[in-house]
Amino acid sequence: MMELLASIGCHFRIPLKTMWLWISLVLVLQYSKTVLSDSNYLIGMGSYDITGPAADVNMMGYANTEQIASGIHFRLRARSFIVAEPQGKRVVFVNLDACMASQLVTIKVLERLKARYGNLYTEQNVAISGIHTHAGPGGYLQYVVYIVTSLGFVRQSFDALVDGIEKSIVQAHENLQPGSIFVNKGELLDAGVNRSPSAYLNNPASERSKYKYNVDKEMTLLKFVDDQWGPVGSFNWFATHGTSMSRTNSLISGDNKGAAARFMEDWFEQNSAKSDELGTDEIPRRVSSIISSIHNNHHELLELASSFQSSPGKPATRVSSAARRVRSALRQADKPGFVSAFCQTNCGDVSPNVLGAFCIDTGVPCDFNHSTCGGKNELCYGRGPGYPDEFESTRIIGERQFNKAVDLFNTASEQLKGKVDYRHSYVDFSQLEVTIPKEGGGSEVVKTCPAAMGFAFAAGTTDGPGAFDFKQGDDKGNPFWRLVRNLLKTPDKKQVQCHSPKPILLDTGEMKQPYDWAPSILPVQIFRIGQLVILSVPGEFTTMSGRRLRDAVKTMLTSSGSGEFGSNTHVVIAGLTNTYSQYITTFEEYQIQRYEGASTLYGPHTLSAYIQEFQKLTSALIKGQAVEPGPQPPDLLKKQISFLTPVVMDSTPAGVNFGDVSSDVPANSTFKRGSTVTVVFWSACPRNDLMTEGTFALVEILQGKDSWVPTYDDDDFCLRFKWSRPSKLSPRSQATIEWTIPPSASLGVYRIRHFGAAKRLMGSIQHFTGTSSAFVVA
Ligand SMILES: *[C@@H]1O[C@H](CO)[C@@H](O)[C@H](O)[C@H]1NC(C)=O
Ligand SMILES: *[C@@H]1O[C@H](CO)[C@@H](O)[C@H](O)[C@H]1NC(C)=O
Repeated sequence: MMELLASIGCHFRIPLKTMWLWISLVLVLQYSKTVLSDSNYLIGMGSYDITGPAADVNMMGYANTEQIASGIHFRLRARSFIVAEPQGKRVVFVNLDACMASQLVTIKVLERLKARYGNLYTEQNVAISGIHTHAGPGGYLQYVVYIVTSLGFVRQSFDALVDGIEKSIVQAHENLQPGSIFVNKGELLDAGVNRSPSAYLNNPASERSKYKYNVDKEMTLLKFVDDQWGPVGSFNWFATHGTSMSRTNSLISGDNKGAAARFMEDWFEQNSAKSDELGTDEIPRRVSSIISSIHNNHHELLELASSFQSSPGKPATRVSSAARRVRSALRQADKPGFVSAFCQTNCGDVSPNVLGAFCIDTGVPCDFNHSTCGGKNELCYGRGPGYPDEFESTRIIGERQFNKAVDLFNTASEQLKGKVDYRHSYVDFSQLEVTIPKEGGGSEVVKTCPAAMGFAFAAGTTDGPGAFDFKQGDDKGNPFWRLVRNLLKTPDKKQVQCHSPKPILLDTGEMKQPYDWAPSILPVQIFRIGQLVILSVPGEFTTMSGRRLRDAVKTMLTSSGSGEFGSNTHVVIAGLTNTYSQYITTFEEYQIQRYEGASTLYGPHTLSAYIQEFQKLTSALIKGQAVEPGPQPPDLLKKQISFLTPVVMDSTPAGVNFGDVSSDVPANSTFKRGSTVTVVFWSACPRNDLMTEGTFALVEILQGKDSWVPTYDDDDFCLRFKWSRPSKLSPRSQATIEWTIPPSASLGVYRIRHFGAAKRLMGSIQHFTGTSSAFVVA
């Protein structure tokens, strides 16, 4: 509607009569929209950069000490939606391009929301979920086990998350407007395989026979439609690990789900850019037909390019790079950006490495039961569809999820209707009594145990074998590990029995020095938006565990007799949400003690404990009753220890400026689409300024004779920002910017720019920029 009005405003020469016709048409449309629209909620979307430190910091996920960030594949974001009943309750769901949620991050975000909004957003109605990328900066969790490989706590990783989540929620809050939500579901067959099928096979045959596959193939998608702006976003849940990028990758990446989100947001903005006819100062990237029609002569282009030599590095303002960010330039000022999130669910045993796991020495499939090669786990690796190129695997698995999501988005027709509601409880999982059905009838009471990890945990998985090198008495390891290693505890008999048949490697639940090694108090949370129910779980449920939990909740809802939940009740699990406590397998899978069973922290009845606690929440939700808040989890921020050294200073060789080109494009060169342009700049440590909502790298296209327009930045899949030092202690560093020219790139004259920030010896930060020579893409 706004677009129609705006275009009338521009065409001021149209005859008055026609104009009146238009205006009355608009009024009729507006009126019928108000009458016909059955938007029933207020909806708001938000998104903010949470990329964090792109250097020196260990990546979270594989627990590989050697996997240290050194650049950016594409940026990480916190994406949020808020749904509110106009006069009633509201829920906030945040999806993080991070390995998992963190208790400490959740606590601090809630504190900030309280300071800002009072009791509007609390632990009850805010869910913060991780996509499980293994290519984001670590050190932001509070329990010891999860920060061993990152040399302890990393304040910068933590702050980037807390700030970004808060800003993304604030945006969603400010975007709240009347709108509708649609739900759609469909199968995606080729984006996940079971990486522990031998454990899955231990589930009862009668149960397995109810399902066609040994992983869940269903994607559930929500489409958000604003009354004024039309579609403003989508969130979906689909189970597959964020392990398309390997344990040796060092570029920050959202892995397959982050990639899918990037593809879908770009897809939407470009489609709407085309139909909106943006002005020339808002030339859509990749759609610059105006430019290519001016310069279509190769010789002319070469001549133009030759007049732009690389320019020496020079001081810059922080704002200059942020302002040039490609995606901000695309957007209409008052229209909310399209937010598309790809959320994680019960991915515990699901790998995106769909070709299977093979031995790297012999090329034969790994041993089925143990994922070993000649008895060794270190040689067994899963292969993604782009094997051996992990970027390609990430793109393909991302694209498959993106395509399915677009499909579901375009065909979504079932509208969410009904109440918004939620329940939340903290539960001490270290000693919970759980009532389970007894074989042969009746029931019995069993108990969970204080957290502990089994030996198979150290073996890792086919997505990242040999994860932790956590062996007792190991005298190697980093300073943080040396500090805590001597605090290892030998489990007593009771603990050993409780976890049986898991052989205990690390008795984490009973280790409290220098502070807690593992969580014992966990949040369980249920959201309801009409006929959709979201179960927030603080870990990675395996396929069958997820099915059991969803079924238990759905059965309660649909048989409640309240009439509010019919057969169209949708239940999704939001994995890795609010805090992290590793894996949850079924009792039967636990007996096999593969990686997932060894990482099921609270013993064989962990899943039954979850089902019991979620049934309590569900019952309270149905009856409109309150639940016990439970014990508060600890805030361990003040106790955190860090061994990561800060940036001391940056320098360049004599006569060289920060931002100078060290290796330029060849003079007068022409590149074909599909080829890669590489430029190396003298640089400084990316930790000096994270360039949040900005960029370290930029590709610009020449418009006219002397005006440069940003076309790709470090959030684009085709542009890689790689950062390196000649040696660990050197103050000198370089940025290598690689642009693989996409098939959709326009013909024209291009150049590559680098933005950075250097730290002087006295600690002051100076921003700089540098520019390559121009080149032609033909
Ligand atoms: C590049 O092209 C320009 C103009 O066509 C020419 O003057 C110059 O000599 C060329 N430089 C090289 C290194 O070929
Ligand atoms: C895996 O283990 C099961 C149970 O011990 C055994 O029956 C089966 O033969 C094994 N499979 C393979 C391929 O080794």
